[in-house]
Order: sequence, then structure tokens, then C-alpha cells
Amino acid sequence: MNPAAETPPVTSRKARVAIVPRQQLDFDLDGDIPRFWFGGDAFKTRFFDAMSTLFPEGERFFIACVRDFRDDIRDPELQQQVRDFMRQEAQHGKVHSDFNARLSRQGVRVDLIEAKSRSMLQWFRRKAPARLCLAQTAAAEHMTSIMAHGFFDRPEVFADADPRIRAMYVWHGVEEIEHKAVAYDVLKDVARAGYFTRVFAMLYVTLLFPMHVFAIMRHMLRIDGFSARQRLAMWAKGLVWLYGPGGLYVPMLRDYLAYYRPGFHPWQGGQMRSYARWLEVFDRTGSALAAGNAVHARV
Ligand SMILES: [Fe+2]
Ligand SMILES: [Fe+2]
Repeated sequence: MNPAAETPPVTSRKARVAIVPRQQLDFDLDGDIPRFWFGGDAFKTRFFDAMSTLFPEGERFFIACVRDFRDDIRDPELQQQVRDFMRQEAQHGKVHSDFNARLSRQGVRVDLIEAKSRSMLQWFRRKAPARLCLAQTAAAEHMTSIMAHGFFDRPEVFADADPRIRAMYVWHGVEEIEHKAVAYDVLKDVARAGYFTRVFAMLYVTLLFPMHVFAIMRHMLRIDGFSARQRLAMWAKGLVWLYGPGGLYVPMLRDYLAYYRPGFHPWQGGQMRSYARWLEVFDRTGSALAAGNAVHARV
């Protein structure tokens, strides 16, 4: 279905859906989850694990960058959205920290990864104007929301993943969709950032984010004990899985490029069928695990 036919364009800051901070969800992550939880595939597993190690510090950075402008927000609706955005992101950081403790027990140097991310992000906040930090946040929020939309569009991508970890990522994706326009609206309407700042920040994030993820994956695959030859083969196959024809990122390209349009707004894109399905099951059962499975039930 053409998403444009399903979703009328929205150019105001009105959220299409309510931003609902959800807490104390149980994904059963203490259960017996295999080390390579993504269908036994080390590369795919470590791709998502690496992102998870970046989330707690990243989410703290996003919250701080939006908070810098909170006192200047005059619109009570946007003020409330900012509060809900911060509560959602704080919860994401907490859940991923718990998940990352599992990675630490496997020998992953989560402590070092977090210390490096923290010093880099703090350095950026000291050196760069607050508006540019916020522009980075809005760019990263666009990335996370198009990934969420992309994964929901293609549930088959996650078919082999452990349902518990998948449910954690699906919940995170649901909330990324709900608050996807908040940082952007603050950037445009409150910080009054221009086109160049917005686009420059997106180029920066586009370059830096995969570089960090790949560096962390390199460390993870080493401590997993794979030989240099095995790792080379994994990278060759894995990069095709990410960027090759039919790869994970390819269908997201159009939504990614939309960010460079002068009249862009986050609520102009993204299908909401899987989101609605998740919400319906979650509201009925109270189970994030059941809701995550429901999104992938048609695989
Ligand atoms: Fe998040
Ligand atoms: Fe977010």
C-alpha cells in the first residue's frame, strides 16, 4: 500500500499518536537466551548488541540537548510532548542498561564503550552550540524512527530473532515512532535552526553512527573467539545483509533522504499498521512480549 494514501501529510507539530511512557515492562530477558540470539547469526546479533551499548549514553545526550531549550517552549502541548519524550528515552536507557549487563557478563567491555561515548558526547556538548547538539538529536531521532518503521514494514527481517529481545526492540521502536517529531519540532520552532544546521547534523550522524557501531562489533566478534578469516567472511556477508540489494537499510533510503527536503516533517512518512497492531495487543494484554510477537505473527 502506498503510505501516502494511508497517511495524510502532517506539517504541524500535532503528534499523530499519543506519546505514552511505559514502565516496568517484562521482556523475560533473564531467561535462557542464546549468546547469538539472532537465529544463531553472530554478525546480526552483534549489530543489534552494539547499538544497545550506545543507547544509554545516547539517550542521556538526547534528553540533555532537548532540555536545553525546554524553558523557551511556549506551547503547552509541545512542553508536554517534551516531558513524555524525556520519560520514554530515560526508560529506554534503563532497559538497555539492564540488557547490556548481560553483554558485560559475556566479556564485552560495555564499561569502556560507555566511557568513550560519554566523553565524546560531553566534549561535543561543551564545544558545539546547543542548537547544533539539538540538531544532532533530531537527526538521530529520524534515524531511529525510520529504522523502527523499516523493521515494522518487514517483520520477516526479525523472524529468526529471539522473541524476548525482539520484543524489547519492537517496544523501543514503537516509542521512537510516538515521539519521532518532538526533537525536530523543538529544533525548528523553538531553537529556530535553519536548513543548513539540520542537514549538516544529519550528515554528521550518518557518518559517525555506523562507524561507532562497526568499531564495537569488531571488538565483540573478537571476544566471541572468531578467527580473522571467520570474521572477514562475516563482515563480507554482513555488509551485504545491511547494504546490499534487498538489505536491511535499502528500503529505508527514501525516508532517510526525505530529511534533506526543505519542507520535511517527521509525520509525513512511515506506515502505522504494525504500530496499531502492537498497541492493540499491548492494551489488551499488558504484555510487551505478546505485542512484539503479534507484530511478527504474519511472518
Ligand atoms: Fe530511545
Ligand atoms: Fe528517541
